[in-house]
Amino acid sequence: MDYRILGPLEAFDGERALSLGGTRQRSVLALLLLRAQEALTRDVIIDELWGETPPPTAAKVLQNCISALRKELPDGGAALRTVGGAYALEVASGELDRDRFEQGLAKGRAALAAGESEEAAEQLRTALALWRGGPLSDFSYEHFAQEEIARLEELHVEAVEDRIDADLAGGRAEGLVAELEALVGRHPLRERLRRQLMLALYRTGRQAEALAAYRDARRTLLGELGIEPTRALQELEKAILAQDPAIDVEPRRAARAAAPGRHAATPVVGRDDELTVFDAALDDALAGRGRLFVVVGPPGAGKTHLADEVASRAKVRGAAVRWGRGWDGGDAPPYWPWRQAIRELPEHDGAERFRYFAAVTELLRTEAAKQPLVLVLDDLQAADEDSLLLLEFVASEVAEMPMLIVGVARDGAPRLEELARVATRTLQLGSRT
Ligand SMILES: Nc1ncnc2c1ncn2[C@@H]1O[C@H](COP(=O)(O)OP(=O)(O)OP(=O)(O)O)[C@@H](O)[C@H]1O
Ligand SMILES: [Mg+2]
Repeated sequence: MDYRILGPLEAFDGERALSLGGTRQRSVLALLLLRAQEALTRDVIIDELWGETPPPTAAKVLQNCISALRKELPDGGAALRTVGGAYALEVASGELDRDRFEQGLAKGRAALAAGESEEAAEQLRTALALWRGGPLSDFSYEHFAQEEIARLEELHVEAVEDRIDADLAGGRAEGLVAELEALVGRHPLRERLRRQLMLALYRTGRQAEALAAYRDARRTLLGELGIEPTRALQELEKAILAQDPAIDVEPRRAARAAAPGRHAATPVVGRDDELTVFDAALDDALAGRGRLFVVVGPPGAGKTHLADEVASRAKVRGAAVRWGRGWDGGDAPPYWPWRQAIRELPEHDGAERFRYFAAVTELLRTEAAKQPLVLVLDDLQAADEDSLLLLEFVASEVAEMPMLIVGVARDGAPRLEELARVATRTLQLGSRT
């Protein structure tokens, strides 16, 4: 037999769909399925189905339902036994879709725990495919079904969350954002979904949106429950701000390729002059004579590629590399490129700009004193003006620090002239085509 309750009630004997009759008869079958193997006395069944004041005909109606079910079931209804004054339905392992679902869920979770994300995703997808709608959906107003409906609905969301974890672990964040946004809309207070949405956005390069998702979660939790997000969610926000490698996708695929600043993926061709300049700049910076270099050029000129190579050379020579980028997708917090590069960046809480800039400069001085620093600020054409002003301020102080700053911008970016004035040099790259 194939009994199904993950949606409207259905029963199949092989290919043949059983005719399940009217509401009462369907309710009797559902109740027997939920309490399979158990001997249920007539009184218990009547109580479950009709409540405290059953009609005088209840016993008779129940009797009719049982015989009708027996006629539909194979082998003359041998599976529906009468034991004294009670009825019991034999349901073998795997005959009920709910049990198949729970078995698949357990296997999926075991695989997830073992780090086998592909296997886990596969198992969980198969298990979730058993769902055809709300559980026991034709009994949503029946008292006897309430508890199980609630349990199964919860289990379903958890299984979806597990499957999404498996997808995230397998580096498949791309397809998840839209699904997660819909899920968060339906379950706004589930922090696990909020966390997954933040991660999916972050890992598809949508960091500002990941932070906006955190703020939205916090607003909802405060508004609805008057509580702050859990520590775990708060830490995730911090990790996103800091671009903590710990939240990169586990098998290093998409995120690695999308995140520059670690090592140039392909060799740098035809940039000998520029690299000679930067090697000298690195000599100076490591010797405590800090510099700002600006790289400008049209889109695709190879600006990021060049900065990437400079960063790898710096790393080999013992410098720490920090990398931040402008974001023009909207909604970026103030000082976003700086914030990405420097996780300890203080909040600009309305202090005068000068005092704030001075504080950031002192922080950089302290950091660079511990280990020479290379700071790359890329895509400055998409940075907020305050970030550019801060860069000009820091650049005017950098000469005394073991620090090389590389500012990268497209042609025509704002404040390029002002930057050039405080830069040691501005390198103009031509189009590569
Ligand atoms: N010197 C180079 N040698 C080999 N490949 C390069 C070189 N410069 C750039 N490329 C390749 O050309 C492509 C565009 O380069 P890159 O992303 O650095 O451009 P960009 O100037 O930063 O552009 P955008 O303004 O859009 O950020 C990349 O795929 C990069 O790997
Ligand atoms: Mg670039």
